[in-house]
Amino acid sequence: MMAGWRVPFVRPDVPAYAEVSAAIERAISSGMLTKGPELAALEAEAAAALGVRHVVGVSSCTVGVALVLKALEPRAGRTEIILPSFNFLAAPGAVVWAGFTPVFVEVDPQTFTIDPAAAAAAVTDRTAAIMACHTFGCPCDIPALEAVAARAGVPLLVDAAHGLGTQVQGRQVGAGGRAQIFSLSPTKLVVAGEGGLVATDDDALAAAIRVAREYGNDGHYGCTLPGLNGRLPEISAILARASLARLPDVAARRRAAAEAYVAELAGLPGIGLQRIPPGATSSWKDFVITVDAEQFGMSRDAVRRRLADAGVDTRAYYDPACHQMEAFRRYVRPGQSLPITDHLAATALALPLGAHVTPDVARSVAHVIRTGARS
Ligand SMILES: Cc1ncc(COP(=O)(O)O)c(C=O)c1O
Repeated sequence: MMAGWRVPFVRPDVPAYAEVSAAIERAISSGMLTKGPELAALEAEAAAALGVRHVVGVSSCTVGVALVLKALEPRAGRTEIILPSFNFLAAPGAVVWAGFTPVFVEVDPQTFTIDPAAAAAAVTDRTAAIMACHTFGCPCDIPALEAVAARAGVPLLVDAAHGLGTQVQGRQVGAGGRAQIFSLSPTKLVVAGEGGLVATDDDALAAAIRVAREYGNDGHYGCTLPGLNGRLPEISAILARASLARLPDVAARRRAAAEAYVAELAGLPGIGLQRIPPGATSSWKDFVITVDAEQFGMSRDAVRRRLADAGVDTRAYYDPACHQMEAFRRYVRPGQSLPITDHLAATALALPLGAHVTPDVARSVAHVIRTGARS
């Protein structure tokens, strides 16, 4: 968030201090600031909300992803993780930190989520896992991806950083795949300050992540799995619990703003909207449009400047795409190209959403875009 914007890009929708002050006071006066009852309660409440057997709280989604990858049973020569390049840079970053090689694949041009056929085509005998993403809150196609992963004999993981508030057939996403890993950072619908949740039905994986977030200490000062300090502090767990309890309200407010954007922008020549599959509801972690410069009469960057001049802050997510970044370019295969991803990176624009974006605010942001359209 930046001072001076009339409509900042994001403002966290968090509980009032009065809602958490007693619990914070209790935690501080008890002296139990980590590994305490608030984390245990958050994990139980989140497991119920996500419909999984286990939730393990961690210090961030990035750390959660890295620990899950590190905890995969090692298989000789299986060193590659298939993931979309149209993605936040934390995902391939965690892959590399965990000692794997990212293999970038295309997304579906309508939903912006990993294309199951592209993932299937990238499978080799070096594949260790497929890591999909609920991109901007749109659920990835879990049944199709599970089929690809099963055929390949590898686990499906989901970077579910944007997934709190995402539903399929009326149910919060979280089950499906070996693990789904959520973020609790301030741009998400459930906020801990910083934090993440590893959701899984796999007892052994949950136990491994509990050890891995504790330096890898097996409880007897031995170590079979190199870990990190990946713990979620008590005060963050308090915030996350209060925030999780408000998720239905926060998601409904966000949906109302997103619906106002859709009503104003759908059908505008040259403006594309992310397609949310039938039966699914996006968390609308981000509301992303695409701008076809020729049809719209203005490029994505010109629309962005026009909005900035009107005091509206935006982000060009995800430009550059991961495979175009200096740290990850080396993982692009000789002769490999990702034209759908390149096109999305060049044309996508995320509009403001958050506590401050009411449907009226969304309509006024959309108005700035509409009045720039070719007349
Ligand atoms: C798709 C995706 N994956 C991972 C992350 C990392 O989450 P965290 O900040 O909790 O580490 C983010 C953060 O926004 C994200 O957007």
